[in-house]
Amino acid sequence: MSKTIIVSNRLPIRIEREDGKLAYKTSEGGLATGLGSIYKEGDNIWIGWPGISLENEEEDEVEKELMNRNMRPVFLTENEVQEFYLGFSNQTLWPAFHYFIHHMRFKEEEWEAYKKANQKFAEAISKWIEPDDTIWVHDYQLLLVPEMLRKQFPNVTIGFFQHIPFPSYEVFRMIPWRKKLLNGVLGADYIGFHTYDDMRHFLSSCHRLAGYSYNRNQILVKNRLVEVDSLPMGIDYGKYADSASSQLAKAKEISYRDSLGPQDLILSMDRLDYSKGIPGRLLAFERFLKEYPEYQGRVSMFLIVVPSRDQVPSYKALKEKVEFLVGHINGKYGTINYVPIHFFYRSFPLDDLSAFYRMCKIAMITPKRDGMNLVCKEYIASRETQDGVLILSEMAGASKELSDALLVNPNDEAQMVLSIKTALEMPVAEQKRRMNIMQKTVQKYTIFQWVDLFIGNLKNLKERQESMA
Ligand code: UDP
Ligand code: G6P
Repeated sequence: MSKTIIVSNRLPIRIEREDGKLAYKTSEGGLATGLGSIYKEGDNIWIGWPGISLENEEEDEVEKELMNRNMRPVFLTENEVQEFYLGFSNQTLWPAFHYFIHHMRFKEEEWEAYKKANQKFAEAISKWIEPDDTIWVHDYQLLLVPEMLRKQFPNVTIGFFQHIPFPSYEVFRMIPWRKKLLNGVLGADYIGFHTYDDMRHFLSSCHRLAGYSYNRNQILVKNRLVEVDSLPMGIDYGKYADSASSQLAKAKEISYRDSLGPQDLILSMDRLDYSKGIPGRLLAFERFLKEYPEYQGRVSMFLIVVPSRDQVPSYKALKEKVEFLVGHINGKYGTINYVPIHFFYRSFPLDDLSAFYRMCKIAMITPKRDGMNLVCKEYIASRETQDGVLILSEMAGASKELSDALLVNPNDEAQMVLSIKTALEMPVAEQKRRMNIMQKTVQKYTIFQWVDLFIGNLKNLKERQESMA
C-alpha cells in the first residue's frame, strides 16, 4: 500500500533531558499541532528532528521508540543546530520571510550547512521511499529538499507547503542564494501557501529571479508541470471544541477564576518571536490603561510566551524586552488586589489552553507578520457560548478568512488601543453574531479538509502530468 511521508525540520514530539532521562514532549508551533493527527494513519510516517543532540547509544533508543510512533528521526549535530537551524533557517530565512530585514544575516558557512542538512534530510527520506509513495515536505528549513529528491527519484510525487509568509520579490531578492532556493522548491510538483499573496510573491520571484514564465498558477520546470496554490490551513475544530467543553477545562477555569478574581481577561499567546508583535501589544495595553483609567483594576492581560529559539540573540533580546515591559506595567498600574499582566514564560498542555481560551473574554493576536496563526482559530473553536471578541492583526494569514474579527494594523498603536475598548464594550449580541460567523468558517475548513485538498490536488496534478507525457 502506498503511504504518505511527511517531512519537516521538527517532529511533532520534542525530546528533552529530565533528571538524566529522555522525556518525550509534544512540540509547540502550528505545523506540529496542525498535522499531529495525520501521520498516525495507516503506514504513513513523519521524518524530522527530535530537537535534541544525543549520544550514539541514545540515538538507537530514540530511533526504536519513535519507530513505534510512526516517526523516523533525523539527528542533527550541535554544529548543524547552530549553523543550519539557529543560523541560516532562523537568522536568514525567518527574518527575510517575515520582513524583518534588519535581523537577517548572510553567512556563507551557514548556507553551506543549510545545503548539507537538507541533503541529510533527503537521504533520510530516500531510505523509506517506495514506489507510489507521496512525499510531503514542509516549511522554510527544507526548501532544497524537493529538488534533491527529484534528482534521485525523477518520477516521485512531491508536495511542498510553506507555513510562513513568502515575501515580496523586493525582499526575497536580497538573499544571495535566492535562485538556488527557488529551484530547490520547484523540485516539488505541487507547492502550497497559506494566502493568495504569498503564492503571488513566489510566482513573481520565480519569474523575475529564476527566469521561469508562468501561466496563472502553473510553471513548466524542465517540461514538468508544477502548480502553485493557496490553501489556508485549518485546525482540528472538534478537538478544540470538545476539549473546551470538557469537565476538566471547566473545572480548571473555575479554579483559576477563584484565584484571579472577576476582571475581564485579554489573552495573548505566542511563541517567543519578534514576528508576533508582543512588545507592541504590551505597549498598546499600557496606553489603554493610561487613556481609560476607569478600566484600571477591571481588565488584565493573560500573557503566555512559549520559549522558542532562545539562543538566537534577537530572541534573547526580545525576552528581556518583554520582561522589562511586564515589570514596568505591573509596577505602574498594579495594586494589592490588581495584577495588570499575568505573565507565563512556558508552554501549557491542551487542557490548560482550553481553560484559558474559555476564561478570556478577548483574544488579542496582533503579529507584525504571521503565515497563518492557529491560536486565533483555536480560540474561536473553544468559545462554547459564542461570546468573546477576537482582535486580530491584518498581517496574519488568518485575517483573510476572519473578517469578523476586529482587524487591526499592529503598527497603529492608537487603533490597537481603541480596539481593546471596542472589544470590552461590545454588546454580547454583537459578539455572538461575529463569533458565530467565524466559528462556521473555522469549522468548515478544518485541518482534515486541508490535508485532503492538498493531497487530492497533488495526486490529480500527477495524473495530468502523466497524461501529458
Ligand atoms: N501552543 C501549545 N502550548 C502553548 C501555547 C501554544 O501547544 O502553551 C500551540 C497552540 O495551541 C498552537 C501552536 O502552539 O497550535 C502555535 O501555532 P501558531 O500557528 O499560532 O504559531 P507558530 O508558533 O506556528 O508561529
Ligand atoms: C513555526 C514554523 C515551524 C516551526 C515552529 C516552531 O510554526 O512554521 O516550522 O517548527 O514555528 O519553531 P521551532 O524553531 O521551534 O521549530
